[in-house]
Amino acid sequence: MMSTNPARNTEPFDAVDVIRVKRDKGVLSPKQIDWVIDAYTRGVVADEQMSALNMAIFLNGMSGDEISRWTAAMIASGERMDFSGLSRPTSDKHSTGGVGDKITLPLAPLVAVFDVAVPQLSGRGLGHTGGTLDKLEAIAGWRANLSNEEIFAQLESVGAVICAAGAGLAPADKKLYALRDVTSTVEAIPLIASSIMSKKIAEGTGSLVLDVKVGSGAFMKEVDKARELAQTMVELGKSAGVHTVALMTDMSVPLGLTAGNALEVRESIEVLQGGGPEDVIELTVALAEEMLAGAGRTDVDVRAALADGRAYDKWRDMIAAQGGDNDAPLPVAKYNEQIVAAADGVLSGVDALAVGVAAWRLGAGRARKEEPVQAGAGVELFAKPGATVRAGQVIATLHTDTPERFGRAKEALDGAFTIAPAGTEVAPSKIVLERIA
Ligand code: URA
Repeated sequence: MMSTNPARNTEPFDAVDVIRVKRDKGVLSPKQIDWVIDAYTRGVVADEQMSALNMAIFLNGMSGDEISRWTAAMIASGERMDFSGLSRPTSDKHSTGGVGDKITLPLAPLVAVFDVAVPQLSGRGLGHTGGTLDKLEAIAGWRANLSNEEIFAQLESVGAVICAAGAGLAPADKKLYALRDVTSTVEAIPLIASSIMSKKIAEGTGSLVLDVKVGSGAFMKEVDKARELAQTMVELGKSAGVHTVALMTDMSVPLGLTAGNALEVRESIEVLQGGGPEDVIELTVALAEEMLAGAGRTDVDVRAALADGRAYDKWRDMIAAQGGDNDAPLPVAKYNEQIVAAADGVLSGVDALAVGVAAWRLGAGRARKEEPVQAGAGVELFAKPGATVRAGQVIATLHTDTPERFGRAKEALDGAFTIAPAGTEVAPSKIVLERIA
């Protein structure tokens, strides 16, 4: 077959042949994988060809060997950071993405209290799961872009950094993730596992804890699929010499009582000041204990550091080090509307995906990566499953600067709050479902 690729004579493979192997359920050779990732990063393999290959992988899967080679090729597409020169061990966390998932905010300073450095290289949100950088950018003056030297210096001085992953880190993933987002190929285990682990291994953390979300608001809706993803990532981490553990955690209900950038910063500060919703505290503590254990610190009282203000002091240092004004008021959206309970009874469910989509439609998230987000937009909940409610009681407030968005946000919330007859027992939801090591 004639190729339309002008570089054919100098490239060792043809993208069409590589796509055909996966389309026909074959196994890609290590050389084919190395080439296709490198050639896509260089722009030799076109977006439409990579889209076809992603879809073939989505439909037909990959073997363990293919996933680990694909991950290695993505790591090799960019730089590798090295924190071995720091005076303390490093530990990081990565979540597969959820609704109201602000855990990184209290977690990074909390772990740093115990002299373990946290290099959190994060991203912006796309779709219904919010992005850590978008949340922190709600703080006046806070700067997401740091040079590698600044990251290193802040890890030495404060012990925690949350900042944008630089363009040099796994550039293949940056291109691939944007492509997957617009071609409906995000929710594939080989692609998610390689995307996350390439960035985390390239980042150079010594120890890693993965928060693998399960439920309506997560990429993996079923426990079996989430377990397979967790096991795949733990294997990738271990074979790269990174101490890796995964917690599978519930994402059928939003985490905490807020979804939206400034709203989530406010709730995180409440947790750092010793208050806040119990599910956020429980998950923050569970992840902190795993991160600390991975770095060799097992005899520490993590909850105490939230309760006595040490984690909050560390947060203030971390925010100030990146230009953030700790004392500036957080932005508040110009308009709000209330959602009320439709009946008397017990709230038995609050659908995470519906709340995430509503927050996104209110302006907390973006549909295209170049769009700005609204700092004050989002959903504030006043009741979680198990709460007794009365018809007409306010159970949520919607916030936005652009009131024409209320209609579509309310549509997303249609049926999101389930009310069972009064007296129904609603079992308290478990946050941590399984641990995979
Ligand atoms: N987060 C990532 O970084 N990559 C994915 O593919 C999914 C979630």
